[in-house]
Amino acid sequence: MKKIISCSILNVDFLKLNDILKQLYENKIPWLHFDVMDGNFVKNLSFGSSILKSINDSEYKFFNDVHLMINNPLHYYLDFIEAGASMITFHIESYNFDFEKNLKLINLIKSHNVKVGISLKPKTNISEVFKYLKYVDLVLIMSVEPGFGGQKFIEETYQKIHELKKEINKENLNVLISVDGGINDTNAQKVREYGADVLVSGSYLLADIKDRKNKL
Ligand code: DX5
Ligand code: ZN
Repeated sequence: MKKIISCSILNVDFLKLNDILKQLYENKIPWLHFDVMDGNFVKNLSFGSSILKSINDSEYKFFNDVHLMINNPLHYYLDFIEAGASMITFHIESYNFDFEKNLKLINLIKSHNVKVGISLKPKTNISEVFKYLKYVDLVLIMSVEPGFGGQKFIEETYQKIHELKKEINKENLNVLISVDGGINDTNAQKVREYGADVLVSGSYLLADIKDRKNKL
């Protein structure tokens, strides 16, 4: 099991972004998590691919983990690839669980030699992702209702991680499990014990990167 931290920049003060990137880089946080929201798929608007491009062109290099919480990822995924995405993760709910459409997007992302992830909301049953496991690099399990940072971790997430890890092992697949939302020092270890490889953290980590990175 890997031990990766992915820092969500959803709620950063963008006037201080360069200093935050410097701190994250110096503290060896390897992944940056870009929460892209369209105000429709989730009731919040965040940012587009231009932020990713600026960060990708900066002196601080990260694995750019793009999380699309948007209604029509087929229309926008290429902007993020051209802006420097290392991985594109989209929600299987975006096309109402349409397998053919979701698989088409997975293959399009991979055709650009970019990693691909799928994500599911808290209310979506974990078994909905099983049919995609042989095609993707990562599953992003939402441990909060997508749309906002600073929310409370949903306890039922542990069981979802456990079931997904069991399925990945049963199928002998090499798919990373990432958990996103409300991650902090009180749940990080248990989330990893259940099988998570990547922990996404925004508010907890950014409050004190140096001190808190070792608690995730
Ligand atoms: C929520 C986002 C999460 C969130 C994480 O829709 O996908 O990445 O920003 O922020 P915290 O760690 O504050 O819950
Ligand atoms: Zn996210």
